[in-house]
Amino acid sequence: MIIAVDGPAASGKGTVARALARHYNLPHLDTGLLYRAVGYTVRRLELDPRKEADAVAACDLDELTLADPALRDDDVGQLASIVSAHPLVRAALFQRQKRFANQVGGAVLDGRDIGTVIAPDADAKLFVKASAAVRARRRLAELTARGREVTYEQVLADIRARDARDSARSTAPLTQAADAASLDTSALSIDAAVARAVALVEGRVRGRSTAA
Ligand code: CDP
Repeated sequence: MIIAVDGPAASGKGTVARALARHYNLPHLDTGLLYRAVGYTVRRLELDPRKEADAVAACDLDELTLADPALRDDDVGQLASIVSAHPLVRAALFQRQKRFANQVGGAVLDGRDIGTVIAPDADAKLFVKASAAVRARRRLAELTARGREVTYEQVLADIRARDARDSARSTAPLTQAADAASLDTSALSIDAAVARAVALVEGRVRGRSTAA
C-alpha cells in the first residue's frame, strides 16, 4: 500500500505520515528532507540557490548530510523552497522518491507533490492543512525546544513566505490532488489528527477495494 501525505509547511504532515507508517508498519520518506539537504549543500558549497545549475550540482546527497539536524532549521527550509522550484532539481530527486514509493510492500511518503507527481496512483492520499497561525505556533514550539531563538512573528513570516513561494511556482506548485482527502489539524491534538488520518486511509482503501 502506498500512502501519499501532502500539505504546507508545519501542517502536521510529517507527524501524521510517521504515525501512519508505524500503524501500517511501512517505511516512511520525508521528501522535504531531500530538498532541505540540497539547499543546505548549496549553502555549504557557497553556491547560489537561485541558479538552477548550482542547485543541481548539490543534488548528489549522502546519508551523513541527510541525518544532519541542522536541516530542520527554518533558514534551510527557505533554501529548500528556493532550490525545489528548479525543474532539474525535482528531476534529479524524482527516481529516488519513485523507487521508495514503489518498493515491495509499499511506503508512506510526505511532501508537496507526492499525490500529484511522485505517486499519482497511491492507494490513499491525504492533504494535511492547518491555519497559518496554528502552524507558526507549532513550528515555534519545535524550534524553541531545539534551543533556537526565534519569535512568533519571524516564524509566521517564514511560513507565509514559503506558502507563497511553494504555491506560486510553476513547477510542482503546492496543490491538493483532486482525489486527496483533506485533514485540517488546526483544532486537533496529535492523537486526534492521527486517529482521523487512519480513519481516512481506511475509508480510501475500503473504497478502492469495493470499486475494484
Ligand atoms: O516541514 P516543512 O513542511 O516546513 O518543510 P519540508 O516538508 O521539509 O519542505 C521544505 C521545502 O521543500 C518546502 O517549502 C518545499 O518548497 C520543498 N518541498 C518540495 O518542493 N517538494 C516536496 N516533495 C517536499 C518539500
